[in-house]
Amino acid sequence: MRAVTLSRHGDESVLELTEQPVPDPADGQLLIKVRAAGVNPVDWKFREGAVSTDRPFPLGMGWDVAGTVVTTTTADGPGVGDEVYGMLPLPYAGAYQEFAVLPVSAVAPKPVELSFAQAAAVPLAALTAWQSLDAAQLTAGQRVLIHGGAGGVGHFAVQLAKARGAHVTATTSPRNLAFLRRLGVDEPLDRTEEHPHAVEPVDVVIDTVGGRTQQESWRALRPGGVLITLPEPIDETYRIPGITGRRVVVAPDGEALRRIGQLIDSGAVQVEVQDVLPLEKAAEAQLISRTGQVRGKLVLSL
Ligand SMILES: NC(=O)c1ccc[n+]([C@@H]2O[C@H](COP(=O)([O-])OP(=O)(O)OC[C@H]3O[C@@H](n4cnc5c(N)ncnc54)[C@H](OP(=O)(O)O)[C@@H]3O)[C@@H](O)[C@H]2O)c1
Repeated sequence: MRAVTLSRHGDESVLELTEQPVPDPADGQLLIKVRAAGVNPVDWKFREGAVSTDRPFPLGMGWDVAGTVVTTTTADGPGVGDEVYGMLPLPYAGAYQEFAVLPVSAVAPKPVELSFAQAAAVPLAALTAWQSLDAAQLTAGQRVLIHGGAGGVGHFAVQLAKARGAHVTATTSPRNLAFLRRLGVDEPLDRTEEHPHAVEPVDVVIDTVGGRTQQESWRALRPGGVLITLPEPIDETYRIPGITGRRVVVAPDGEALRRIGQLIDSGAVQVEVQDVLPLEKAAEAQLISRTGQVRGKLVLSL
């Protein structure tokens, strides 16, 4: 099968399109014919060596797949020919390739309203948003501030928070303010202005940006509030007593994906795909992702 692999860590030039054996599904796993693979920042972080794995080179790439079940090893879950989407377990990449192996517990039916390319944009980013809102125990009527609201995780987080009945404030650059309004954000904030301290104290902050944004997030929270950060661990220097702060690390979850799929099919959650590139352009896709300016998601088609 055709697969994007790397034989050493480095910049995007280490990505190669190679021929690899079709993987064998173990018990409890599915073999999926990949129709599209999502691109996430963790892909290029992994390529650069910032995410460790116990697997030897050559390593595969990517965690998000949408495709069709070819082989199943279990009577539970989807059958041969079913259209599914799912996230591989971290840190075992292997989505930028013609066939992928996933635990049956990590997949769900592909939302019927979505193409394969749109479906591949969903798993890792939407699960991250879902699990972050769960970790913060966000409830209806609460106020949440989402930093990076136009990105892969952010655009799902704002919509899932609205679906939970929260009041949503989100930061973005000026060119994406109208986009956030379209997604239902109550208060889109221009991140180039001095905002995080100007907002009324919030119950929850979801930080998809990190660095200075994480440091300043503490001051946007009410006493008893919750800060969830994604790019990096909490920097203890800035912690404010009485506020909970923790990092969430996403995990595959087929049941959550099934529920997210229902929200998508009901029209409550939209999937924004900035661009779909062919598998051969994986390096270009990662270069674009690395700019940190993608609106929604990038996807590779197979
Ligand atoms: N811990 C985990 O399990 C986990 C899971 C998923 C992702 N992550 C990490 O979380 C981060 C976000 O992931 P992602 O997939 O959402 O990335 P992404 O799609 O590349 O995010 C790009 C978005 O970030 C926005 N942005 C950039 N700088 C910003 C700033 N200073 N303030 C507000 N918005 C800013 C950009 O919008 P504007 O240009 O309009 O501002 C752009 O739309 C990455 O570091 C990723 O590795 C962690």
